[in-house]
Amino acid sequence: MGRAKKVVLAYSGGVDTSVCIPYLKQEWGVEEVITFAADLGQGDELEPIRLKALEAGASQSLVGDLIQPFIEEFAFPAIRANALYEGRYPLSTALARPLIARRLVEVAREVGADAVAHGCTGKGNDQVRFDVAIAALAPDLKVLTPAREWGMSREETIAYGERCGIPAPVSKKSPYSIDLNLLGRSIEAGPLEDPMVAPPEEVFAMTRSVADTPDAPEEIEISFEAGNPVAINGQRLDPVALIREANRLAGTHGIGRLDMIENRVVGIKSREIYETPGLLLLIQAHQELESLTLAADVLRSKRQLEMQWADLVYQGLWFGPLKDALDGFMDRTQEHVNGVVRLRLHKGTATVTGRASTGSSLYVPEMASYGSEDQFDHRAAEGFIYVWGLPTRLWAATHRK
Ligand code: ARG
Repeated sequence: MGRAKKVVLAYSGGVDTSVCIPYLKQEWGVEEVITFAADLGQGDELEPIRLKALEAGASQSLVGDLIQPFIEEFAFPAIRANALYEGRYPLSTALARPLIARRLVEVAREVGADAVAHGCTGKGNDQVRFDVAIAALAPDLKVLTPAREWGMSREETIAYGERCGIPAPVSKKSPYSIDLNLLGRSIEAGPLEDPMVAPPEEVFAMTRSVADTPDAPEEIEISFEAGNPVAINGQRLDPVALIREANRLAGTHGIGRLDMIENRVVGIKSREIYETPGLLLLIQAHQELESLTLAADVLRSKRQLEMQWADLVYQGLWFGPLKDALDGFMDRTQEHVNGVVRLRLHKGTATVTGRASTGSSLYVPEMASYGSEDQFDHRAAEGFIYVWGLPTRLWAATHRK
């Protein structure tokens, strides 16, 4: 068919991406399939995945550690932007896609491939994110999407794989579709497709059930510099270690589970379970510090643009011009977001109990105080209210019966 000679396939080790390997070669005449599996801190053993691709017919099987750029270039900007899609989902899956796409393009260049491929279906958001990101970074590269076109059911896909020597998923296969990385887990499908069915405890792995959390609350302090979390309980941590520690603390107290109906890019509503303990905790703390260190008008504008930032990332427009422009705004606002937030973790909730900033706090005690140190000029309020209320008084005088 001559769609491409040499293809780099984004590889996860699952059935769909495994079947993509023989399918690309046998059905679409691809000569050489090179797989790329990303380590995003998901905790999977990558060596068996690497070997599995070779057994399925890949000519080369590459594994890349992307954890550090994932956290520094994708998670931290999301924290600075308090990014919550539809007010809730902190984009743990969405943030990984532009990074995987970027690396996929780099690998394609390195090996001289004329196309890249992924195993996303036609119903999800991830295909949108991959396709748009690849098109933005490498307009000349073809994107092959076998799973979007082959029209095979799950059973047919497994059978196709078995004919090509790809073993069917072992043991009783989980009914769930799970995506995971260091930021969190997304769980869909199976019994969860009924929006009224409560998520069974077995779907969670990063967070404890509230029933199993410590009875004693735990107070923690998170420090930020220029909007980036830099320390927990006074201990400076590199970005990856900090995310791990935030996951551990929040997860221990059962914080970070979400159960929501979400609006996908392709127009459908889907029922999604997430657990993103650290990211939600850090965003909560970061928002709190902004309330202390940002001017009221900046804060209000930022809250609106944050929604737009989250929409863009969700919708696969990471490399688009609006995202780039919003990043400029976000970064500028973060220069003075320095300080510490204290939270009390207990039985599934994190409650802010204090915030402080040396040098960047806009909270001025002499202005806020009701005590003797009060410096606010109370008499100035009268003139202010005269002008402020003038339109209302004029309107009322005209229309009052
Ligand atoms: N709905 C979430 C999102 O769009 C999670 C997607 C999970 N992806 C997956 N291939 N299972 O970001």
